[in-house]
Amino acid sequence: MYPRKSHIAFGFRFFVFLAVFFSGKGVYAQNTKLVNLRVEHLPAPLGIDQAHPRFTWQFETTKSDFKQTAYEIYVNSDSLATLKGDKNLYKKGRISEDQPLTYYEGENLQAFTKYYWKVKAWDEGGNTVESTVSSFETGMMTSSNWQGSWISDGQDITVKPAPYFRKTFSTSKPIKSARAYIAVGGLYELYINGQRIGNHRLDPAYTRFDRRNLYVSYDVTKQVREGGNAVGVLLGNGWYNHQSTAVWFFDKAPWRARPTFCMDLRITYADGSVETIVSDKTWKTNTGPLIFNSIYTAEHYDARLAQKGWDQADFNDSTWKEVFYRAAPSQHIVSQAMHPIRNVTPLKAKSLHQVNDTTYVFDFGTNISGVTSLQIQGEAGTVVRLKHGERIYDNGHVDISNIDQHYRPTDDKDPFQTDIVILSGGEDHFMPAFNYKGFQYVEVTSSRPVNLVEESLSAYFMHSDVPQIGTIHASNPVINKIWEATNRSYLSNLFGYPTDCPQREKNGWTGDAHIAVETGLYSFDAITIYEKWLADHRDEQQANGVLPSIIPTGGWGYEWGNGPDWTSTIALIPWNIYLFYGDSKLLKDSYGGIKRYVDHIDATYPSGLTTWGLGDWVPVKSKSPVELSSSIYYYVDATILAKAAKLFGKEEDAKRYEQLCLKIKDAINTKYLNKETGIYGQGVQTELSMPLFWDIVPETLREKVAKNLADRVAADHYHLDVGLLGTKAILNALSENGYADVAYKVAAQEDYPSWGWWIKNGATTLYENWNIQSAHDISLNHIMFGEIGAWLYKGLGGIKPDPEKPGFKHVLIEPHFVEGLENFEASHIGPHGKITTRWERKGKHIKLWLTIPPNSDGTLTLPSGEKRTLAAGSHEFDI
Ligand code: BGC
Repeated sequence: MYPRKSHIAFGFRFFVFLAVFFSGKGVYAQNTKLVNLRVEHLPAPLGIDQAHPRFTWQFETTKSDFKQTAYEIYVNSDSLATLKGDKNLYKKGRISEDQPLTYYEGENLQAFTKYYWKVKAWDEGGNTVESTVSSFETGMMTSSNWQGSWISDGQDITVKPAPYFRKTFSTSKPIKSARAYIAVGGLYELYINGQRIGNHRLDPAYTRFDRRNLYVSYDVTKQVREGGNAVGVLLGNGWYNHQSTAVWFFDKAPWRARPTFCMDLRITYADGSVETIVSDKTWKTNTGPLIFNSIYTAEHYDARLAQKGWDQADFNDSTWKEVFYRAAPSQHIVSQAMHPIRNVTPLKAKSLHQVNDTTYVFDFGTNISGVTSLQIQGEAGTVVRLKHGERIYDNGHVDISNIDQHYRPTDDKDPFQTDIVILSGGEDHFMPAFNYKGFQYVEVTSSRPVNLVEESLSAYFMHSDVPQIGTIHASNPVINKIWEATNRSYLSNLFGYPTDCPQREKNGWTGDAHIAVETGLYSFDAITIYEKWLADHRDEQQANGVLPSIIPTGGWGYEWGNGPDWTSTIALIPWNIYLFYGDSKLLKDSYGGIKRYVDHIDATYPSGLTTWGLGDWVPVKSKSPVELSSSIYYYVDATILAKAAKLFGKEEDAKRYEQLCLKIKDAINTKYLNKETGIYGQGVQTELSMPLFWDIVPETLREKVAKNLADRVAADHYHLDVGLLGTKAILNALSENGYADVAYKVAAQEDYPSWGWWIKNGATTLYENWNIQSAHDISLNHIMFGEIGAWLYKGLGGIKPDPEKPGFKHVLIEPHFVEGLENFEASHIGPHGKITTRWERKGKHIKLWLTIPPNSDGTLTLPSGEKRTLAAGSHEFDI
């Protein structure tokens, strides 16, 4: 192997030289830019409540050896002053640091204030580069800044129609800016002067409402006007007032109440004065066309009850009723600082099957999470039902029997995944406001004939709108389809918290989430969702360290399914965020929780072995001992805790938990490892791959155990024989231990049981069961077998973060040029920029192209074990 071409072309280097030469030392010419400025990992966010927000940035440069050696941060409430860098409210620097991440550490930030900031960086040669000015705006900062009161319509929790609220007010002075802050128990849509505010869906995100409530901030300067104004708020039940009944008893949640909200509409006039329009007794309320809504089942809408103009100033609200004051759902009301849920991708129907003039079946071609939007005209009073499902029967009707088993309806008025629309007689439009579903097919039936065409129903793929930061492309189209299906299932299960499936449960199952965290983080910038979800963990963790198996929960899950194989999210999620982002905040915030959790297991299971857990869920055929898999996860938590202790300078903890790790590892190996044969337990795939992947195997036996695993897989005809826990480990255990070809063979299978088998059978998402004929556990949109997404980056592209220099400050690249693939490409945008691996088979040789982003470096490890140091920039190798 020999390096052929490295870094930038000579011509460009010469240009850079000239530019720097003529511009004088100390300032860069056009070749380096500071880009992607973020606050709390969000671009120019509104409504930040953090006293010490985080700043991050990236470099865009053709100067491939660029390294940041120091930075300075300027913050000011005046944009011009920030630009000039003078009269700073806050200046941090010059700090000798190579990380593009820091905290604001100045005086207390004021509430409701727009701050401008920029960053200046130095390179090794003492040259500087400055960003343009970016901004962020604070929100309430403290709960005592709220002026509005919590109000509701005073109805009972069983009342079905959704409450509408309105208030009119007038302004008489020119408006400089206006902000709306709204906190809700339940869900809401906000309207001002007839216009819906923002494009978020299902706000605020689901939290444990009696412990923590989220509020959302909007810039409504354009909507508030001089003169008469009206504000309208429509409230939905969400998880707050769960009226549908299912096996997790959300209808009995301790927080359950009629939806409620608190709102401050803060108007700043051109003369500098401020007026706040608040939620109080001057509001009026009524019900309307939204006659039922359930986050779990569906929404019912009677278009005949629509009150046109209800959110306009000149509407006659004389029949509307008074509102009621009530207590806040919790004392902890914080800003929702994360990428919101949106209707991200519109989908047109792929086909329409008209069964007769009252029954139509639409097929959207891909399985998604989201909603449909109906455009229809029919006789007034016609009842239209839209049943959403993932499968169709042979006779063409929609089949929901794979997703409704946990639903326990008390009558037939709330059918599963079925919106009901009663037509007004005019042109009607309906899209649910407070529900989403998992579906590919929609069966529309009507009580009287209606005429529907393909355009009558469209769909939206809805999820937390996290930016995509990774791509995969392989010469094998099945692999590409598996990757696409994995991403679709990951996103279908991201709604402000990670879920198991978008139809049957919508539950924050912990196990599914930690299995999928790497898959998510390679492809999507999801840190904000995980930080919110770990705050949900803090709300749910008991004093003894125990967590429920679903988070958030209405109480269910403290007694079932919550062993370390599931609730190790408390350690695994923060640890992976640290590895991918180089940001230790979440790990620090979670430290106490991880410690309580590990201490609890240690106290309950002093031997180092624990039987607490569900084990290798939905396996192909072989079962592995729960004690083995749960003790391995317990070990993983203890290692993360020991590493975190070290990182945060807690030497005593570090020593104590290192000892505990040794004890657990020893206990596992003493009981389960046959040191003669190198076999764990009975030697089935999960039993061999979990100890390898999670680093339980004694170094001297690693090769032997890996060989046993490869032999086992060969004996299983290169097919999977694993459940959820084994799927996380198997491909990595093979490719990390010299058997990448075997791993690829398994990953690329196209017959049962395999990911490819699903794809060959038409899957566009990942399934819950390897057996597609299974009578149970067969949701068609689960992420729990989704580790393959991460493995494509790791096992084939070879891109991995280095725990010693996290956040891809030092990139580990260990690609595998597996038999069966002609070419492969993986890219991931980390904190420093884009990392790329691309390889192509050229006869007997491999051509390899790599990109390492600025301000970082890497190490390439070739299959032979040979290592190469990689500077930032582009590299080409012939191998
Ligand atoms: C969920 C799974 C979850 C499991 C726990 C199921 O009902 O859909 O994904 O992890 O329960 O056993």
